[in-house]
Amino acid sequence: MRTLLLGSGGRESAMAWALGRSSVVSELIAAPGNPGVAEFAALAEVELDSPSSVDALAGRIDPQLVVIGPEAPLVDGAADLLRARGMKVFGPDADAALIEGSKSFAKAVMAEAGIATATARTFTTVAEAVSFMDELGPPFVIKADGLASGKGVVVTEDRSEAIDALEDRLVRGVFGDAGRRVVVEEFLSGQEVSIIGVSDGRTILACDPAQDYKRALDEDNGPNTGGMGSYSPVPACPPGRVEEISQEVLNPVVDVLASDGSPFVGALYAGVVLTESGPRVMEFNARWGDPETQALLPRLRTDFGELCAACAVGELAGAELRWRKEACVSVVLASAGYPGRYVGGMPIHGLEDAAGIAGVEVFQAGTAVREGDLVTAGGRVLSVSALGDNFEQARNRAYQAASRIYWDGRQMRSDIGARAVESESLSRSMSAHPASGEGRGATK
Ligand code: AMP
Ligand code: GLY
Repeated sequence: MRTLLLGSGGRESAMAWALGRSSVVSELIAAPGNPGVAEFAALAEVELDSPSSVDALAGRIDPQLVVIGPEAPLVDGAADLLRARGMKVFGPDADAALIEGSKSFAKAVMAEAGIATATARTFTTVAEAVSFMDELGPPFVIKADGLASGKGVVVTEDRSEAIDALEDRLVRGVFGDAGRRVVVEEFLSGQEVSIIGVSDGRTILACDPAQDYKRALDEDNGPNTGGMGSYSPVPACPPGRVEEISQEVLNPVVDVLASDGSPFVGALYAGVVLTESGPRVMEFNARWGDPETQALLPRLRTDFGELCAACAVGELAGAELRWRKEACVSVVLASAGYPGRYVGGMPIHGLEDAAGIAGVEVFQAGTAVREGDLVTAGGRVLSVSALGDNFEQARNRAYQAASRIYWDGRQMRSDIGARAVESESLSRSMSAHPASGEGRGATK
């Protein structure tokens, strides 16, 4: 199958890597891609924010399968145009992608489907929003309703900061149309887990769980980012929990969207908080997670090209997802200053050295080739993913590889996957000393 992959981030590098290994993908073209994607695909130019540019490119290439990575073209209706041409597309039409494109739409779908989520209301004026915010109490959670490149959410204990966030969105128009409506919601406390399901519009299959690290600095300090690393599977979310989330969250969303005439074809990402009273949904995305995908696809044994095609043609029923038993830890290497202003153009060294470590794949995100040299060209520059027999091995490999890669100002968190290593050693010591599993300090 001649396959077109749209996108240019670390997620798309991992997707290109997986499509490059697919037995059904005979030719891979990526647009716009990046130098890492170019190892697996021929690159073409496209304006991702312009559905007509995507449509024109697809018209020229005439692919047998189109896989859409990022949310913007989905929400803007690129998949609709391609399907209108009769093309097979992995990625939802605009009306189904609204599950990510509008937080209030997502809340309405959850209400219809009876899905447990944070109590929330949508506002267009500051005074009403503040009064609901005060009813809920701190920590305050304020969200721009529309797409804001991951920057539309503020979570704070500080009431005046929350009011400032409301004014930024509703009065000062900092987020443009995306912030004309805000969602004020209850704070959910617990571990976050990303459950991504692949769907053909009727059937949805849940992937193994992954966990993302949103904050810039160790121990979840510093500002929110696009994600500084990930790991999979998630010891805090065992298979029974994934099945429960699949039954109680993913299936009902797919059913509601299908019965409303907007079947969801593609990757439905549920951001779930494991609260004391059970899993509750924090957000939906209409695509694979970044950087979760960089920890998931190295573990996927199912042919990724076949899987995307089965979704695109509505033939997922009866299929199954198969996963390696190994753990995967993926560490993001970012430019100095990220998620604020950063300087690009720094020469990157040590990539081959890093990729030589067993189990390691380096996925490129913000990179470019300048005068023959690979240089930084974005906030998140690379994802270093490593498989291992357990989390300890995967994490050691990922950090060993990451330490071989350097450029001026390179930053990374040093605690990606540490939580999983802890859970792993705790469960090892509990199974070695079963009677000591109660109370604190579980070792005898
Ligand atoms: P989002 O942009 O929706 O992914 O939100 C960014 C981050 O804000 C999430 O990963 C959470 O860490 C945090 N967040 C969003 N909504 C809530 C909530 N209701 N309760 C607690 N934290 C939240
Ligand atoms: N990792 C979070 C996201 O993809 O939105």
